[in-house]
Amino acid sequence: MAKYRIALMPGDGIGNDVMDAAQLVLDKLALDAEYVHADIGWEFWCQEGEPLPQRTLDTLKTCDCGLFAAITSKPKEEAEAELCPELQGQGLIYRSPIVRLRQTFDLYTNLRPCKAFKGNPLNYRDNIDMVVFRENTQGLYVGVEFHPLPDEVRAALKAHNDRMGVFDNVPGEDIAVSCRIFTRAGCRRIMRAAFEYAKTFGYPTVTVVEKPNVVRETSGMMVREARKIATDYPDIELWETNVDAMVMWMVKNPQDYGVMVASNMFGDIISDLAAQLVGGLGFAASGNIGDNLAVFEPTHGSAPKYAGQYKVNPTAMLLATKLMLDWLGETEMAQRLEAAIAAVIEEGKVRTYDMQGDASTLEMAQAIADRL
Ligand code: IPM
Ligand code: MG
Repeated sequence: MAKYRIALMPGDGIGNDVMDAAQLVLDKLALDAEYVHADIGWEFWCQEGEPLPQRTLDTLKTCDCGLFAAITSKPKEEAEAELCPELQGQGLIYRSPIVRLRQTFDLYTNLRPCKAFKGNPLNYRDNIDMVVFRENTQGLYVGVEFHPLPDEVRAALKAHNDRMGVFDNVPGEDIAVSCRIFTRAGCRRIMRAAFEYAKTFGYPTVTVVEKPNVVRETSGMMVREARKIATDYPDIELWETNVDAMVMWMVKNPQDYGVMVASNMFGDIISDLAAQLVGGLGFAASGNIGDNLAVFEPTHGSAPKYAGQYKVNPTAMLLATKLMLDWLGETEMAQRLEAAIAAVIEEGKVRTYDMQGDASTLEMAQAIADRL
């Protein structure tokens, strides 16, 4: 029996292209693993009305972790239009399968390291080494939304908050509400994960990125919990910034920041910015990590227009593979993989189109595998 059982979820679009790159590298590393394919993505929405079939959840339950590539998501009306005719008009609702995976398996930490690799022509600046901890199961992405606003929800809100009266003359049909829900335990565990990471990898600061001056209750709770957790880590300084100012500072002085923590939506936003500072989404990987399961993915989307062309940069997918190896405890393999990626980028001979090169996805993956 293999040491690990890993679910491979290529998804759709360029997901397949980059998953092939990951497999090439994993084969070269000879990780002692059994790989099982699991269905996810747009194709399954169109055919079955379910982009994340139950069989995929069942498969994941039997695995140590999952490696996911990319999927297409579309807004409500377009999603309905692309359903196969038998399924249309049944009120099926498309919900992002990756967001659901995170929630179903309580993968509460979204770990997003963004490091400027030497010699990357796309770096905004060298010496950037940021790690975003994005709370991954709560906040604005929790999925508690109303439209039209039911009268009883309106009445309940009004009974507890005067501000609601401002909307008395607006019909329910014309109000949409998306709830931003934080729990104290949710704030504490993401904060703890960030401080532990800073301690393990020697980052001197942890920056909590919220907006407590305006979004008092939720952002306020995150910041208050951050202060309490920080007392357990006297050698690490807690910095507090507002998210709007933070994006400015990230552009102005990106090398000042190390570990950053934010709730779901703010983390989503600042992690794309962090990625762009080190070359764009082609270089950004994520770990969705819970206590019992983790799913690793490149941060980029499915780029349908490039699907099957083996053109896109596999680096993000290979960095996701590296995060997976770390999580499995295969630290030495993880370090070798990162060193091989760094060496190929620094040498600059094999580059995909985004780095002004002409190598294919698999040529770049092969160059990295050759270095291992
Ligand atoms: C990400 C993506 C996803 C998210 C989308 C595709 C649902 O933007 O992983 O950052 O918002 O979490
Ligand atoms: Mg995002």
